[in-house]
Amino acid sequence: MGLAALCPGTFDPVTNGHLDIIARSAGLFDPLVVAVLENPGKSPVFPVEERLAMLKDALDDLPNVQVATFSGLLVDFARARGITLVVKGIRAASDFDYELQMAQMNQRLSDIDTFFISTSPQHSFLSSSLVREVARFGGDVSSMVPPGVADRLCEKFPAKED
Ligand code: PNS
Repeated sequence: MGLAALCPGTFDPVTNGHLDIIARSAGLFDPLVVAVLENPGKSPVFPVEERLAMLKDALDDLPNVQVATFSGLLVDFARARGITLVVKGIRAASDFDYELQMAQMNQRLSDIDTFFISTSPQHSFLSSSLVREVARFGGDVSSMVPPGVADRLCEKFPAKED
């Protein structure tokens, strides 16, 4: 056991960009708790149980990574687990303003600090929302998500017959 951290997100669904950030963070923090927001209000494509299952499957080979769900404030979840650090990935400067605002809010609410890790360049165009859109219209996302996620996206958005 070392310095514990939380890696929060919606993960609807997890992408290879998320996995890159999680794997590199798992080399720095121990345990790393991947915290999946259970946002029923946002009507995610994948229910929280499915998002959790996809993450667990993809992170099976990282022994110091745990996956859990939360609802409500991230700082309350962190406090309940005795964790004082959050780690987030930054894809581009456009991510930074909002991420900084959230980091400062979490710091004000509960003295929680946020570490930012830069996304590896080969993943910097990826987002769950774009992956969902491409999959919805029949595009090939198999190089952008873990295999289990690609399978579930195919089931969710079956190819249309002409
Ligand atoms: O993957 P996302 O959607 O960018 O993740 C955003 C997330 C889940 C990290 C953020 O929305 C969050 O922490 N939500 C929980 C509610 C909360 O604590 N809001 C105040 C944040 S400053």
